[in-house]
Amino acid sequence: MSEATERLATSLPRVDDFAVSVLEGLSRRRKSLPCRFFYDATGSALFEEITRLPEYYPTRVEIGILEANATQMLKGKSEETVLVEFGSGSSIKTEILLRELPELYAYAPVDISESALSDARKRLTVRFPRLNIQPAAADFSHPIELPIELAKRPRLGFFPGSTIGNFGPAEATQLLRAMRGTLSPSGRLIIGVDLKKDVRQLVQAYNDANGVTAAFNLNLLARINRELDGTFDLNNFRHAAIYEPFEGRIEMHLISSSDQDVWVKGRRFRFRAGETIHTENAYKYTIEEFHLMAQSAGWAPQRVWTDEANLFSVHELLTP
Ligand code: AVI
Repeated sequence: MSEATERLATSLPRVDDFAVSVLEGLSRRRKSLPCRFFYDATGSALFEEITRLPEYYPTRVEIGILEANATQMLKGKSEETVLVEFGSGSSIKTEILLRELPELYAYAPVDISESALSDARKRLTVRFPRLNIQPAAADFSHPIELPIELAKRPRLGFFPGSTIGNFGPAEATQLLRAMRGTLSPSGRLIIGVDLKKDVRQLVQAYNDANGVTAAFNLNLLARINRELDGTFDLNNFRHAAIYEPFEGRIEMHLISSSDQDVWVKGRRFRFRAGETIHTENAYKYTIEEFHLMAQSAGWAPQRVWTDEANLFSVHELLTP
């Protein structure tokens, strides 16, 4: 598993809640499943494929913004700086920053998953043999107490990928507040946020011509079949991605093609033809909307970097 996916898969501290969440989500009047369960081995490989699709601009554009602006973004950082990454993310994005920070005191990836942390350490040790890597196994949706040796130094947080968009506004605000707690005092956060844009382009990014996103979405049902004795017939559900303008979000759904019954863990769930399972939200923001949210989480927004077409934004937030 890599990329921002690890953040979603592991950012919340539940080891065996798959069964509980699935049974609960399918029992609702409007059926839903949490998107953090997309990222088993197959789902993570499919997400990697998504990041390389021509329609899926966020990864490519964010990397471009980071590469073009890393020097300016990190100006003034010293050999005392501690880089705290929320989720042990992809080497590509982390490496862009690390290349600009030869004097860094330490790199502290924070993740609930020990295996994600150990993978990150292995990857980065090869590329940066002198880097002081201090992983922290913790749930970053709450403020984390870093070891004193790190806590007394200036901290720079990093949360790329617009993973923040997969949380609803209240949860996203809470997440930003928790990150402020972890990085305070005198902390800074560099965070990637996908922007509102032409609806066609947004929808295509989640509805690619080759059906990779459809396979990614349907894999959730395959995972339920594999792990929870599910009887979903994948040919009887289809992927849909729509933009919901009032909420400002892409919604992914799996739509039942017919009236059907599905069993999971010995429990029966009834589907009507056309009924959907809501599987993911991906909120999109204007720069002003994101600033307001960051402010309500106690941050002082500073610089913003975007690409020429204004598809994606990278924000610098400061603890006041
Ligand atoms: C991980 N996350 C930021 C992706 C997104 O764009 O919301 C997940 C994704 N879902 C479908 N395509 C990509």
